[in-house]
Amino acid sequence: MADASDDHASPGPSSTPATAPKVFRARLHDGSAAFDAPADLPLLIAAERAGLAAPSSCRNGTCRTCICLLAEGRVRYRIEWPGVSIEEKAEGYILPCVAYPESDVVLQYPL
Ligand code: FES
Repeated sequence: MADASDDHASPGPSSTPATAPKVFRARLHDGSAAFDAPADLPLLIAAERAGLAAPSSCRNGTCRTCICLLAEGRVRYRIEWPGVSIEEKAEGYILPCVAYPESDVVLQYPL
């Protein structure tokens, strides 16, 4: 007797998103580097994929090792409140390990 659960339904190709994420351009304030920054990737990871050695440790927005100044552009966070104070946020400081670009950005390292 045939097993009814033996259907061969395949999940199909899973690596083809319906729409590709927008890719912004990120550059360092001193002009020493520039790299693609996809909207669905933290800026730190995008920088590393471009071969840049950016400072990092926890990679979850708590240790502040990666903190830098967002000289231009906009970012968003997926977690409720990353480890920057209200004052620091107002001054433009971001945590690239949890910051996703919403525009082209200019990052300032070191502080
Ligand atoms: S690496 Fe720890 S806050 Fe970004």
